[in-house]
Amino acid sequence: MKIAGTGSALPKKVVTNDMLSEFLDTSDEWIRARTGVVSRYVISDEKLEDLAIEAAKKALDNAGMTASQLDFIICSNVVNEYVTPQLSCIIQGGIGATCPCIDINCACAGFIYAVEIAESFYKAGRVKNVLVVSAEEPTRMTDWTDRRTCVLFGDGAGAAVLTPGDNIKSIKLSASSATDKLWQYRLLHPTPYITKEEVDVPLQMKGQDVFKFAVKAAGKDISRILKDMGINADEVDHYLLHQANIRIIHAIRDYLEQPQEKFPTNIENHGNSSSSCCPILLDECNRKGLFKSGDLIAMSAFGAGFVSGAILFEW
Ligand code: UT7
Repeated sequence: MKIAGTGSALPKKVVTNDMLSEFLDTSDEWIRARTGVVSRYVISDEKLEDLAIEAAKKALDNAGMTASQLDFIICSNVVNEYVTPQLSCIIQGGIGATCPCIDINCACAGFIYAVEIAESFYKAGRVKNVLVVSAEEPTRMTDWTDRRTCVLFGDGAGAAVLTPGDNIKSIKLSASSATDKLWQYRLLHPTPYITKEEVDVPLQMKGQDVFKFAVKAAGKDISRILKDMGINADEVDHYLLHQANIRIIHAIRDYLEQPQEKFPTNIENHGNSSSSCCPILLDECNRKGLFKSGDLIAMSAFGAGFVSGAILFEW
C-alpha cells in the first residue's frame, strides 16, 4: 500500500509544565530535562470520538478521497469512554462510510500494528483503501497526583489513508509479555456472583524498565526492517519515532549513528499520546512539506505489553 493522506486533531487545552507544578511536586526544569516535554494537549470538554472523526476527515481530504471509497477502517485505541460500540464504528458513522471496521489495542505501537493489518488485508486481495485512525486519551488513565506518570502524557488523534501502491517496504512487529511494567486495572460493574477482590488502579509504570525496553526494542525493530530491505541506516531519510521521551529518541539515534535532523520530534508540545504519536507526527511533517517524493521513512513505536514494531516506507 501507500500512504495517500494524513490528518490529525488535538484538544484545545494546552497544559504547560508550569501549570503542573502548581499542584504537583515537579518543575518545568525536571520535566524538560528528563523527558523533553514542555506542554501537552489535554482533553477537557471534547469527546475523543470527535477528535478521531476530525482527524479521519482531514486524512481523507488530504488523500483527495471520500468516505464511500473506503473498504475498511481500523482504529487503534487503548481507552475511551465507550466500552462498546467500538470507536471505529463511531468514526464510520461520523465520516459517512459504510465499510467494515475494527478496533485494536496494541498500546503505543497500535498505529504500526494497524498498518500491518491493512497491508495484510490488501495483499490478500480483501481491500483497496483503508483508513487507519489512532485516537488516544492517556490523560484519563493516569493518577494526576502521581508526578512520575501524569507529566508524560497528552491526548489527540492521528489518521492515515492507505491506498494501493508499493510504498510500504517492510513491517516488523514484536511482543514480549511483561505485564508488571506498564499497566492499569479498571473496575468492572459488580455482579451478585463476584467473590474475588477487585480494585481500580490508575496507570502504573516502572519507568526505567520501560525506558530500557524501548531503546532495545526500537533498535532491534529498525535493524530488522533495514536488513529486510538490504539497506543501512544512512539510506533512511527520516526516522519518525514514538514520542515517549526525548532521551529515548536520542538513545535510538545514537544506536543508529544518525544525525539529529533525521529525527523530527513534536514531544516538546505534545508529550506522549500513545499510538497517536506516530500518525500525528507523520501528519505534521507531511503538512510542513518535510517529505520529498521517494524519501525513505522508518517509523518505530513501543508500548505496554510489551509490544513494538517498525515500518519502512517510501513517501
Ligand atoms: O509509551 C511508553 C510509555 N512510557 C515510557 O516510555 C516511559 C519510559 N521511562 C521514562 O521516560 C523515564 O523513566 C521517566 C521520565 C518516567 C522517569 O525518568 P528517570 O530519569 O527514569 O527518573 P527516575 O524514575 O529514576 O526518578 C528520578 C527521581 C526520583 O526521585 P528520587 O527517588 O531520586 O528522590 C523521582 O521521584 O526523579 C523523581 N521524579 C520527579 N521529580 C520531579 C519522578 N518524576 C518526577 C517529576 N518531577 N515529574
